[in-house]
Amino acid sequence: MPLPPHILQKLCSAAREASSRAYCPYSKFPVGAAVLTTEGEIVSGCNIENASYGLTMCAERTAVFQAVAQGRLGLKVIVIYTPTPFPTAPCGACRQVLNEFAPEAEVICVCDGRDEIRTTVRELLPVAFGPHNLA
Ligand code: THU
Repeated sequence: MPLPPHILQKLCSAAREASSRAYCPYSKFPVGAAVLTTEGEIVSGCNIENASYGLTMCAERTAVFQAVAQGRLGLKVIVIYTPTPFPTAPCGACRQVLNEFAPEAEVICVCDGRDEIRTTVRELLPVAFGPHNLA
C-alpha cells in the first residue's frame, strides 16, 4: 500500500526534529532518521558522535535500535533527513542493519532541496548477507 502523504509528512517532521538533536561536534553533519512501524508508530534517532571517531553511531541505526529496544520489530519505512541541498543515502553499515530489521522497508531520503531519494533496502543492499545465511 502506498504511504499516505500525511504519514510521510509526519515522518519527515520527526526526522528533521531528530536531526536538531544530533551530537556531531566533529563532522558538523547532523542527520535525523524516523522509522514507521507496522503498528503505525514513529520512532526517531540522530547521529551521535564520539571523540573516538569510530564509535560514532549514525542516525539510521540509532532510530532502528531505538525501535527494536522498544520491542517494535516490524519496520516499514525509514525517512532520513539532512539539512543539505541534496539528499544523503544511508551508509553501508546502516544498510546492513536495515537489512536485519527492515528488509522489506522503503527508504526515503529528504533534505532542504527539492531532490529526494526513494528506494528500498533491497535495492540498496542487493544479494545481502543476512539472517537466512545463519538459519
Ligand atoms: N551519518 C549518518 O548519521 N548516517 C549516514 O548514513 C551517513 C553518515 C553521520 C555519521 C557522522 O556523524 C556524520 O554523519 C558524518 O559522517
